[in-house]
Amino acid sequence: MSDQIEQLRELAKASAAVAYAPYSQFQVGAALMTKAGEIFTGCNVENASYGLAICAERNAVTTAVTAGVKPGDITELVIYIDREELFSPCGACRQFISEFMKSESKVTAFNMNGDSKTWTVAGLLPDGFSMP
Ligand code: THU
Repeated sequence: MSDQIEQLRELAKASAAVAYAPYSQFQVGAALMTKAGEIFTGCNVENASYGLAICAERNAVTTAVTAGVKPGDITELVIYIDREELFSPCGACRQFISEFMKSESKVTAFNMNGDSKTWTVAGLLPDGFSMP
């Protein structure tokens, strides 16, 4: 594992620890790197009105955008869950990620055992929608 991925994994793990997920108990963390070398993190934030939950990936991306990150600037995204199973980003996050990462950039998910799965953005969302 590269030092960069390991650093992002540790930050995603720290974010998962502060996730607000009292309804699903599914604590997710995300950490991303930009081409300028900045790092931003996010965790999932749930609500008593369940449908309002915001995923870790989208919170990390919106935090980056708030700091000035533009489409194509995010070069790597790592997600983490403190569970035995591996998971993949939800459909809404795939669309959201594809707005700000290039199609060949990588997204990696880790579980608590250090297992991982890596996709390209295009692999997560083939023929994704974008505005003409
Ligand atoms: N969740 C994420 O944060 N990221 C994903 O890619 C999938 C789902 C969150 C949303 C919700 O708080 C909980 O996990 C269960 O769906």
